Amino acid sequence: MLFDKFMIEKKVCVITGGTGLLGKRHVEAVLEGRGIPVIISKTQSKLEETKRIFTDKYHLPIEIFSADITRRKELEDIKNILVEKYGHIDILINNAANNPKVEASSANMQPLHFTDFPLELWEKDIAVGLTGAFLCCQVFGAVMEKQRCGVILNISSDYGILAPDQRLYRVEGIPDEMQKIKPVTYSVVKHAIGGLTKYLATYWGDKGIRVNTLCPSGIYDHQDKTFVEKFVKNVPMGRMSLPEEYLGTILYMVSDASSFLNGATIVIDGGKSIW
Ligand SMILES: NC(=O)c1ccc[n+]([C@@H]2O[C@H](COP(=O)([O-])OP(=O)(O)OC[C@H]3O[C@@H](n4cnc5c(N)ncnc54)[C@H](O)[C@@H]3O)[C@@H](O)[C@H]2O)c1
Repeated sequence: MLFDKFMIEKKVCVITGGTGLLGKRHVEAVLEGRGIPVIISKTQSKLEETKRIFTDKYHLPIEIFSADITRRKELEDIKNILVEKYGHIDILINNAANNPKVEASSANMQPLHFTDFPLELWEKDIAVGLTGAFLCCQVFGAVMEKQRCGVILNISSDYGILAPDQRLYRVEGIPDEMQKIKPVTYSVVKHAIGGLTKYLATYWGDKGIRVNTLCPSGIYDHQDKTFVEKFVKNVPMGRMSLPEEYLGTILYMVSDASSFLNGATIVIDGGKSIW
């Protein structure tokens, strides 16, 4: 049956940043396929809350680990625990990133002129979004290599294929030097994620490991009305996405339903990038 190919029953699926806005939905996609989500995130209380919500709904095992994905040793410890307990690691979703949100006071979503962008912030953003994904591929990919099977899904963004339109973030009546801008690091990390995917998709192509990229677009999260109005003008479908609109594609991309999908980039943006 075709639908059976979407099932990932008892597959161990590591999800970084699985307590965030989109990460929680990846957890849900894995549970819909009856897989075992292994959520790695920084804050223990959020991990426990996410586990409680999904345990109540699905009554399936969920593993949680508070760790920093920029520290290889912490990832190695998680890998050892999982291999000891399950004997296999099947899926990795590299999702964690310093996601600069227009409505929040993210450290990197500030009125930072490119020429003054602090090196420290550059290094922090690259460390989480890119080095973290690289380390997870190394550590969990090593298990997949031994098994000669596995799937890696790297979460990029429409800003992994397009430049940010800074006009979206401008607020009328504020001087130029006070205007918030999408940071350079977001473009660099998200484009580089696509490079990591292509590199590994060819490196591991004949070793049973598939590696792909998903590019979600702006997710509606109660942003300011003016921002939303400006944003949707660039979207043929005339709206932002909802976090749950990625579930089906996530499950497709990590399951055998996509058994010949490798090195691909799937863009889900309501048509924004073709306009
Ligand atoms: N929200 C959007 O509109 C949107 C759009 C396109 C792409 N994306 C991408 O989707 C992914 C998730 O976005 P989101 O909006 O859910 O982000 P979020 O800020 O809500 O969640 C980020 C998660 O990453 C975790 N994290 C951060 N640093 C970490 C570290 N060093 N070690 C371990 N965990 C760490 C956080 O604890 C949190 O769980 C990101 O890669 C983002 O770039 C988001």
